[in-house]
Amino acid sequence: MASLDKSHELGVKSHFPHVPMSPCPPFTQELAQELLNHYGSPLYVYDGDRLCQTIEYITQAVSYPRTQFRFASVTNGNIALLKIFRSAGWGLHANTPGDIYLGLQAGFNPSEIVYSGSNLNHAEMTQVLNWGVTTLNLDSLDQLQLCCQILTNKVSKSTLNQNNPPISPPRLGLRVNLPEITGDSRIGVCPKEFAQAIALTNEVGLKLSGLHFYRGTGTNATAAFTEVIDKLIATAQLLPDWEYLNFGGGFGYPYQHNAVGFDWEKFGAELSKKLTCLPKKIDLVIEPGRAAIAGCATLLAEVVSVKWQKDKQILGVDTTVANLSVPPVHGGHRKIITWERGQGKTKSLVDEVPTPHSLFTTDVCGNTTYSRDYLGKNCQLPALKIGDAIAILDVGAYGYAMSSHFLHRPKPAEVLLENGRHRLIRQREDYNVLLANQVLVEEEYRIQKSEFRIQNTEVRIQKSEFRIQNSEYRING
Ligand SMILES: Cc1ncc(COP(=O)(O)O)c(C=O)c1O
Repeated sequence: MASLDKSHELGVKSHFPHVPMSPCPPFTQELAQELLNHYGSPLYVYDGDRLCQTIEYITQAVSYPRTQFRFASVTNGNIALLKIFRSAGWGLHANTPGDIYLGLQAGFNPSEIVYSGSNLNHAEMTQVLNWGVTTLNLDSLDQLQLCCQILTNKVSKSTLNQNNPPISPPRLGLRVNLPEITGDSRIGVCPKEFAQAIALTNEVGLKLSGLHFYRGTGTNATAAFTEVIDKLIATAQLLPDWEYLNFGGGFGYPYQHNAVGFDWEKFGAELSKKLTCLPKKIDLVIEPGRAAIAGCATLLAEVVSVKWQKDKQILGVDTTVANLSVPPVHGGHRKIITWERGQGKTKSLVDEVPTPHSLFTTDVCGNTTYSRDYLGKNCQLPALKIGDAIAILDVGAYGYAMSSHFLHRPKPAEVLLENGRHRLIRQREDYNVLLANQVLVEEEYRIQKSEFRIQNTEVRIQKSEFRIQNSEYRING
């Protein structure tokens, strides 16, 4: 871990939802330069202190005592960051078996992991249950049936084999489909299917104890949650063994810094009040993803080319939409800022220089010619030069997690700022990653071709290989 010069105090922004009205860099220009020099460009930079503040803020907003927070790692699966959530007392929400795998690597106990996903095949459902995940919210009657079948098998096997410890069944819940609340959604089971679901579980001696509500993603309208609490409680009460209510997917983050963000305090207060009034004490599970981590990361990149088309600045930077696929591919705004050259202040030039003509309409273009390779369009930025750094803000959620090898560029490194220090938390990829898992058929072909010519009689011995590699035969024959 490299330590920071004292003057490199991290300029921590106030935590969400009190994001600054106007965008400013999360750290100084000197620190940005130091990080780029040390780790290279492009670079994901996470502000660990800010992440801790956000976790604390969300946690405090829900006073209901039986609340369990489960971080939705679909948004970000970096182990170092998952460990921060674990240290703060949060568990993990898994959308897929891969999320669970990463969660276990980060040290989460299976009892701290809630699975609320869709469409697992037999092998995957078996794996999830074998990992010992103790809360599963299922998306269809078929998934519930599969889960029950596998569980019954496991239980009967362990009873037969006295060496195996008895298996305590996980708590099972249903993801709910309520078109009157969420409109047309593929997710969940309708209340009219509940009777069948209850029968399915009872048949094998299990019970349905949870209701899971999914509100899509990125909802800044707090009312979309608060106004449906009564309906959800009434729906959950259709389950005779109801024990927990689970919210996940949808808690928004204000990427437009002057926009209204999701109000955790309002949501927490209303939900806590309603749950406290219930005759039965139930558990509350909340799975924030985006809201917890979006504002904690910045993608740094360097300017490699500047050209002008009339008054418009066309900025070429050394990153690509494949490193941050959200804005161009999935829609959504991410603010791009830069630093005032030579000043080393935490304020952006956007704030610093009031004269409007010092800012130019700018397209920030990635380092490929893919037609959608824009990191930002019509941004207001000063005239930049090669070597200047830009910062793409609020990329902690669905940023690195959605980056891909599309365009065949290796992925950036990730760095964590913590207690005035920085450390690498994911290596930069190199070109080898583009070969990973590829079967280099042509290589084998060439070797076998020469073997064929030299060891002609062996062809008969390796008859089956010969038939598989028919095309070789034709070429050589
Ligand atoms: C069931 C569930 N919970 C939580 C999340 C995280 O969503 P968000 O980032 O909107 O909080 C998702 C996202 O796909 C999800 O499917």
